Amino acid sequence: MASDILIRILDPSDAEAFRSLRLEALTVAPEAFGASYEEDASIPLETMRARLSASPNAVFGAFADRALVGVAGFAVYDRVKARHKGVLWGVYVKADWRGHHVGKRLVQRVIDHASRHVIMLEAAVGLANDGARRTYHGLGFKPYGVQRKALKVGDMFYDEELLYLDLPQPGGA
Ligand SMILES: CC(C)(COP(=O)(O)OP(=O)(O)OC[C@H]1O[C@@H](n2cnc3c(N)ncnc32)[C@H](O)[C@@H]1OP(=O)(O)O)[C@@H](O)C(=O)NCCC(=O)NCCS
Repeated sequence: MASDILIRILDPSDAEAFRSLRLEALTVAPEAFGASYEEDASIPLETMRARLSASPNAVFGAFADRALVGVAGFAVYDRVKARHKGVLWGVYVKADWRGHHVGKRLVQRVIDHASRHVIMLEAAVGLANDGARRTYHGLGFKPYGVQRKALKVGDMFYDEELLYLDLPQPGGA
């Protein structure tokens, strides 16, 4: 049951489970992510652990009976002039758990977290990815453009819809 799902920020001890789910995501839905399987498979576990401890960046995980069944990531832009913006990345829910609002709850948690650190959240979603588009639009993301041929997987090109969500100023200003 979706109500039994626990959502929390992953920590370094979740690195193995995260890596496994991430590689599953890149295998079953390569057109939905900017990273390739080979790129992420080559990331040492230590690097993965370090990334999971880099606040305010965060990866939220959904757990069912202690098994990781979904994830959604948040990253702040590095450069000084862009640090007021963050990116939603790596949203994935295991096939058996889809359609139970796990994705929506994960993205909402990213939005809540992002609101404390940035004033705008960006996302990019495959133009043909109706499920993810509906999830993001339903949570208030607005489209501001389409990047043609944003990704190339094998011989196929994929267009992406570019989205933003204005957030209240951190601290309520
Ligand atoms: C996209 C994804 C994360 C959605 O997760 P989910 O847990 O099934 O989504 P939810 O159950 O929270 O659905 C959220 C909303 O989107 C709608 N939705 C989700 N998938 C849908 C689909 N395939 N077709 C139509 N509507 C869909 C739901 O009906 C729901 O709408 P509601 O709030 O009006 O009830 C999941 O399908 C997935 O992991 N896909 C593969 C990876 C991927 O595409 N990731 C996104 C990268 S940008």
